[in-house]
Amino acid sequence: MLKMQDVTVRYDDKIALEHFCCSIKQGEIVSLVGESGSGKTTVIRAILGLLSGNGKITEGDILLEENSLLKMTEKEMQKFRGKRIAMIFQDSSAVLNPIRTIGSQFVEYLRYHEKIGEKEAWKRSIEMLEMMHLADVENIMKSYPFQLSGGMCQRVGIAMAMSLRPMLLLADEPTSALDVTTQSQIVKQMMEINRKYQTGIVMVTHNLGVAAYMSDKIIVMRDGKIIEEGNREQILHHSVNEYTRSLLGAIPTMDGERYVG
Ligand SMILES: Nc1ncnc2c1ncn2[C@@H]1O[C@H](COP(=O)(O)OP(=O)(O)O)[C@@H](O)[C@H]1O
Ligand SMILES: [Mg+2]
Repeated sequence: MLKMQDVTVRYDDKIALEHFCCSIKQGEIVSLVGESGSGKTTVIRAILGLLSGNGKITEGDILLEENSLLKMTEKEMQKFRGKRIAMIFQDSSAVLNPIRTIGSQFVEYLRYHEKIGEKEAWKRSIEMLEMMHLADVENIMKSYPFQLSGGMCQRVGIAMAMSLRPMLLLADEPTSALDVTTQSQIVKQMMEINRKYQTGIVMVTHNLGVAAYMSDKIIVMRDGKIIEEGNREQILHHSVNEYTRSLLGAIPTMDGERYVG
């Protein structure tokens, strides 16, 4: 479904990603793990065509169902974003407009991408919020972002991202700002979405416990390069790479327990 071929990204002269290759099949969950600055966010932003600052893809190609995303015009990309590829951020409350209700933003988001009326968009929003196991969703629709907890905001963010049934969901540390219990609930809900809609997910996390829990494939990154990749069994139990092992040494908990095979 998605293929990154030999992608190199530079910010000015500095290489942030070097000959990066990966592929994601439909319904697959791939995690990118690695210390801060290893290039994880750069991968996600390169896919979206939204590199920050002077970021540029200087080599390679990114294909979504055999179509090069790099050859698309900005207008074509805008249509793709949201509809085919959606994104969840670390802190959805920072992305939502603070002075508008969740409902008005959700309805506007749906109507920007689809030709539907207000009523239909409201109904769809409610359904998506319910799918994220939020209670009293009518009330949430009338709330402002600051009136919701961090976990609720993330669920709203995921509900919006999933409302257009994207084939690929990009998530950049979506649980790192949350407490452990909420983190585990959100991870499980993302896995539920993945199963229900066969959405491919790229999960960026510095938490190898989360990566191991949810992923079909784990890519370990450092300094813009892939250090190692494999399924959870290979990475967790058979890695001989020193860097991976150092990440494993600091493996945080998922569900209050150390993740064990
Ligand atoms: N807008 C930017 N301008 C210049 N350098 C950047 C910018 N964004 C990221 N970088 C650099 O690119 C490298 C990878 O960063 P990033 O993808 O954010 O890593 P991660 O998400 O793994 O923490 C880092 O060295 C970082 O300093
Ligand atoms: Mg990052």
